[in-house]
Amino acid sequence: MQRLLTGIQSSGTLHIGNYFGALKPFVEMYPSYESFLMVADYHSLTSLKDSSAVRESIFNTVKDYIAVGVSPEDVVIFKQSDILEHTELAWIFDCLVTVPFLMQAHAYKDKVAKGLEANAGLFTYPMLMAADILLYDADVVPVGEDQRQHIEYAREAAAKFNNAYGETFKEPREYINKAVATVPGTDGKKMSKSYGNTIPLFGTKDEIAKAAMSILTDSSGESPENVYNIHRLLRSEIDLAPIYKANKGNYKASKEALIEDLEAFIAPMRYVRENISDTDVANILREGSEHARAIAEKKMIDVRQKVGVTL
Ligand code: ADP
Ligand code: TRP
Repeated sequence: MQRLLTGIQSSGTLHIGNYFGALKPFVEMYPSYESFLMVADYHSLTSLKDSSAVRESIFNTVKDYIAVGVSPEDVVIFKQSDILEHTELAWIFDCLVTVPFLMQAHAYKDKVAKGLEANAGLFTYPMLMAADILLYDADVVPVGEDQRQHIEYAREAAAKFNNAYGETFKEPREYINKAVATVPGTDGKKMSKSYGNTIPLFGTKDEIAKAAMSILTDSSGESPENVYNIHRLLRSEIDLAPIYKANKGNYKASKEALIEDLEAFIAPMRYVRENISDTDVANILREGSEHARAIAEKKMIDVRQKVGVTL
């Protein structure tokens, strides 16, 4: 059975872009694989400096995973920081790749351009992500389009290591759902927590309605493209055609139809999420991390020997 692995940096609240770009593909794919889902809490330190926010975001991320339909019985749900081998292997990769290579990372440049501190962790972020993936010999990594380059970086880290020390790591491939590669935000640009253009995945009905009502509409057109582009994630184009035909020129009615569909899709997940306790999360992570650790520890014994630090 092939291995599927993905992770989400535990900072901020999930939006529907994260859901359609990363979580939904994972939920649909995981039954056919041996699957791993990671909380990238060490990655979150590149932006979060407040310990209670870090802790809270770990609980929230696991609750999000369960609420969208990930079963802890079938998927190894684990926390990055529980497995020391991740940061250890990231260091080894840091010593194999060059600064100019890392400088080409779009995500790094974008984040710095958006005002994030250019700390060294943010800069070497792709090598920690490479370690996350390669420690488990993952075959497939479902991500959104913006993470494509990071998977290329993971392949590059694997190739560099294999080249220097002999065949050790499997080169993973990304899985990017073409139909929803980039979910547009309320302003029509990529939905992103850093752009303040999101529709929250677990928002209250009011929060969802407020976000949907703020979708920018082109006052010269007849059909509100930005509204439609989000709506078509929830319903087929055949279903939507009569609605948009009837609402032609009436943006408010189209937005109201969208809000109703968003609520119908989110409410059941919100309900599941409200019934998961922090203790449930701690138990899930303890078990998941134990499982993941066994794999990572085994891999690192080989890696340490190959690089020469084992006497
Ligand atoms: P953000 O851009 O809000 O900071 P993250 O970088 O935390 O989101 O992304 C988490 C996951 O969700 C990644 O796999 C990413 O590719 C996916 N994702 C984020 N935004 C979108 C979007 N607008 N459309 C599709 N996928 C997305
Ligand atoms: N960098 C990813 C993001 O921002 C999160 C992540 C960390 C990840 N480690 C990973 C995704 C390993 C897939 C595999 O979304």
